[in-house]
Amino acid sequence: MIDKNILVTGGAGFIGSHLVRLLVNKYPNYRIVNMDVLTYAGNLANLKDIEDKPNYKFVKCDICDFEKVQKVFLEDHIDGVIHFAAESHVDRSIKDPFSFAQTNVMGTLSLLQAAKFAWEGKFENKLFYHVSTDEVYGSLGEEGFFLETTAYNPHSPYSASKASSDHFVRAFQDTFGLPTVISNCSNNYGSYQFPEKLIPLFINNICNNKPLPVYGKGENVRDWLYVEDHAHAIDVIFHKGKIGDTYNIGGFNEWKNIDLIKVMIKTVDKLLDREEGASEKLITYVTDRAGHDLRYAIDSTKLKEELDWEPSLQFEEGIEKTVKWYLENQEWLDDITSGDYQDYYREMYKAK
Ligand code: NAD
Ligand code: TYD
Repeated sequence: MIDKNILVTGGAGFIGSHLVRLLVNKYPNYRIVNMDVLTYAGNLANLKDIEDKPNYKFVKCDICDFEKVQKVFLEDHIDGVIHFAAESHVDRSIKDPFSFAQTNVMGTLSLLQAAKFAWEGKFENKLFYHVSTDEVYGSLGEEGFFLETTAYNPHSPYSASKASSDHFVRAFQDTFGLPTVISNCSNNYGSYQFPEKLIPLFINNICNNKPLPVYGKGENVRDWLYVEDHAHAIDVIFHKGKIGDTYNIGGFNEWKNIDLIKVMIKTVDKLLDREEGASEKLITYVTDRAGHDLRYAIDSTKLKEELDWEPSLQFEEGIEKTVKWYLENQEWLDDITSGDYQDYYREMYKAK
């Protein structure tokens, strides 16, 4: 018996696929409709283990295609949305900001408008959950943390587009009473992440003895959270979060890039039976990313105190699990890194 139809957008991507898997397995009474247009970052192989479950449905659709989105809301009787679909890589946003404004801003607007039309006059038990990032808050100095009340100050085209989409979500809450909730999470790592982001890219390069392109001096700091912990946090906020509220998600787990890279090297070398630190010679300092934010750090006290959520994994354990996963899933990686990926890699790193 199905008592909720939840639309997950971007469910074939990295974090979205973890959330889809969690919901499909944990809630047989929910039907999960995964809407994804399958860009380079979307991969149905991420969901192979659940694709035949009776409470799962995939719809290939661009979130910017308002008419098609509206049709899905009506035909699938959608009563909750968890919105991940986005262009998500900062380096790509520097090269092509238009596609970030299109998907992240116009796509979010299209979903909000479809939800408003479909739910007008019956907002009870409906929820539009917008998945956002800590990058909207900008960059920290050596001290301090991002709080839910920190003023927005995005620097990259990616974070500017996510900030804009957050503002539209709040505008729909305030203007039309659409029930919404937003979470802003720190950097995620784990299985099924596309190997253009730091952790899977470097694991893959270390395995293949390829140079590790460290931007600038490697001194930028990121706050890392295991992706399954992020999915659990979303599950908790979706069910127990206060409507109209914002929750920061993070694991109080800050790492300077260069220190994190050394942990990855140590872990891969150990698992591949290489001499300890043998791959440190692959570290290659390259031109810094333009507008590179120095430090991100999330204060997730509110989520702990109000909804009793805490990360389950220590970083060393999480990174070992992650490295093992990439080593054991070479076929998944090979499928992704053949073809277009090679062109991307050459183009992105040619001037560095
Ligand atoms: P991802 O790039 O791995 O996946 C994005 C997914 O969205 C892909 O499946 C892609 O096909 C789909 N998509 C893109 N454009 C679309 C469109 N127009 N219509 C339909 N589907 C489309 O991204 P991710 O890392 O899983 O991030 C998911 C969300 O979480 C994003 O909104 C991102 O801003 C946010 N977030 C990510 C992180 C992180 O560390 N990765 C941290 C905090 C927040
Ligand atoms: P990334 O995974 O792209 O996430 P974000 O920029 O959204 O935080 O990058 C994480 C950090 O790693 C960031 O400080 C940039 C740095 N980085 C490199 O030094 N080299 C690389 O090749 C990449 C992709 C990232």
